[in-house]
Amino acid sequence: MEEKYVADAVRSGWVSSTGPYIDRFEAEFAARCGTTHAVAVNNGTSALHLVLAAAGIGPGDEVIVPAFTYIATANAVTYCGATPVFVDVEPDTWCIGPDAVTAAITPRTKAVIAVDIYGHPADYTALRPVCSSHGLLLIADAAESLGGRLDGAPVGALADATTFSFFGNKILTSGEGGCVTTADDELAAKMRLFKNQGMDPNRRYFFPVIGFNYRMTNVAAAILCGQLERSEQLISRRKDIVSTYERWASGKAELEVPRTVHPAERAPWMASLLVSGTASYTRDQLTARLADLGVDTRPFFPPLPGLPAYGPSTDSWPVSEQLSRRGFNLPTYPDLTDPELEEILRRLDCAFRDIQA
Ligand SMILES: Cc1ncc(COP(=O)(O)O)c(C=O)c1O
Repeated sequence: MEEKYVADAVRSGWVSSTGPYIDRFEAEFAARCGTTHAVAVNNGTSALHLVLAAAGIGPGDEVIVPAFTYIATANAVTYCGATPVFVDVEPDTWCIGPDAVTAAITPRTKAVIAVDIYGHPADYTALRPVCSSHGLLLIADAAESLGGRLDGAPVGALADATTFSFFGNKILTSGEGGCVTTADDELAAKMRLFKNQGMDPNRRYFFPVIGFNYRMTNVAAAILCGQLERSEQLISRRKDIVSTYERWASGKAELEVPRTVHPAERAPWMASLLVSGTASYTRDQLTARLADLGVDTRPFFPPLPGLPAYGPSTDSWPVSEQLSRRGFNLPTYPDLTDPELEEILRRLDCAFRDIQA
């Protein structure tokens, strides 16, 4: 379907940021997420920045973010001139929880960005009352969790606004792309204003605010309309791959599989494993052996406050640090065939044997 829709978009001449696939994608994606508005943008980082800018977050404001996330979450706060305030994540979900968030709230706090890291939805049921009682905007960074659920409700409708990424390695992709979903009419209208250079939708070349060019193209939206049609199939293939790896790992005392904390349902973004703290080898030794055998892995994200961009910090982030040291992701993409997966498992067995020898 992607090919057909892209060919249609190209033939129609509507290749830029106006065209029927954009409206169609926004309507279908909002419906899929069980919410009212989807605002399509050019990537997941712009999606985060757009919500914060439209919510009026600026210099002097603080936004609570996890120490354990991809850097885009914190960068979006920095782009606004606001300060990201890092909190450690919980050991079971790997996401920020209500106690750490409450402890980090100050009179300057304006928003909280919870990240559904490696596909596990944060505990929005607990975060929502904390945010509403302090008048804070709750944003879900769902770049990695499309298809996840909490208590049966889909990711996309669990926070005041939810941001998605459609980068090449994401659950749905248009190469680069992003989206914000929300049920807030006013926030959605402001995001539409800001994403189009701040131009008044009813008055061409009249700019009430300074905005950005964060528009998605009709060609990208055409790809996403095709991807959405087969989203269940794409998600279910990823689920099969993740559970195959997890079945393989669950027999190994020196590996840990991620927990899924009820009533959350994890989205199958990437198969994630942890080398146990008592293992006789490190994660880096294991992944180096896997690389020798031709298996490409990714280490978990480093804690952001320890990076030159956001550090140095004298505070410690024990859970984030542990996860970052011990975790890695295995090849997970829907086009992976069963024979390819079996071959990876065979090489995993080899690496595991070699490293224990
Ligand atoms: C948690 C998280 N937030 C934000 C982003 C940024 O998305 P993008 O790369 O589309 O800008 C990503 C992905 O790359 C991510 O994993």
